[in-house]
Amino acid sequence: MVKIAPSILSADFSRLGEEIRDVEQGGADYIHVDVMDGHFVPNITIGPLIVDAIRPVTNLPLDVHLMIENPDQYIEAFARAGADFITVHVEACRHLHRAVHLIKSLGKKAGVVLNPATPVESIQHVIEDIDMVLLMTVNPGFGGQKFIHSVLPKIRQVKEMAESRSLSIEIEVDGGVNEETARLCVEAGATVLVAGSAIYDKEDRKQAIVSLRG
Ligand code: DX5
Ligand code: ZN
Repeated sequence: MVKIAPSILSADFSRLGEEIRDVEQGGADYIHVDVMDGHFVPNITIGPLIVDAIRPVTNLPLDVHLMIENPDQYIEAFARAGADFITVHVEACRHLHRAVHLIKSLGKKAGVVLNPATPVESIQHVIEDIDMVLLMTVNPGFGGQKFIHSVLPKIRQVKEMAESRSLSIEIEVDGGVNEETARLCVEAGATVLVAGSAIYDKEDRKQAIVSLRG
């Protein structure tokens, strides 16, 4: 069954703890945390302080998506704050292999993220070292954007790349995932769906999660 990772970017931040408990009770698999620095993406969100604050609220793995420049500089702080998965953008890492191994040396699961226009080939030399590939299906920066359909073939490509090497890695998609686009992603090989507005804009989060699973 496909895993669901609600993005707290669309939650009510004045009630963040309750918002996280709500999706945990609703059957979520991971909590997706969008970290933005106002440089790599045109928005500023949350830092290690918030990760540390939400860590005791949930038993679910925290899936921390770093949309920041110089991620190497902050990986340790997010690891210490309680991240379980730390994902870094290919476009932000001058030394991607080093960043991946830094995450792993801290005992965390490492993931690599590709923007919609970044080719899958860019991960071929680190795929054996990672636990997750995150394919952006919007240009990162904001919740509630429209799904970019031209990313679908990349999901298949990552799946084939992993299968041809007998690797079992999570293939996560992020951005514009709703009931309709979720189907397309799962058919193409996605194993984890991030959803912000499709869950947090709904009154009944449990029902929203069930609908995304299809
Ligand atoms: C976008 C973030 C996403 C975002 C998804 O930059 O990485 O995780 O919160 O929001 P929706 O599901 O509303 O597109
Ligand atoms: Zn994200």
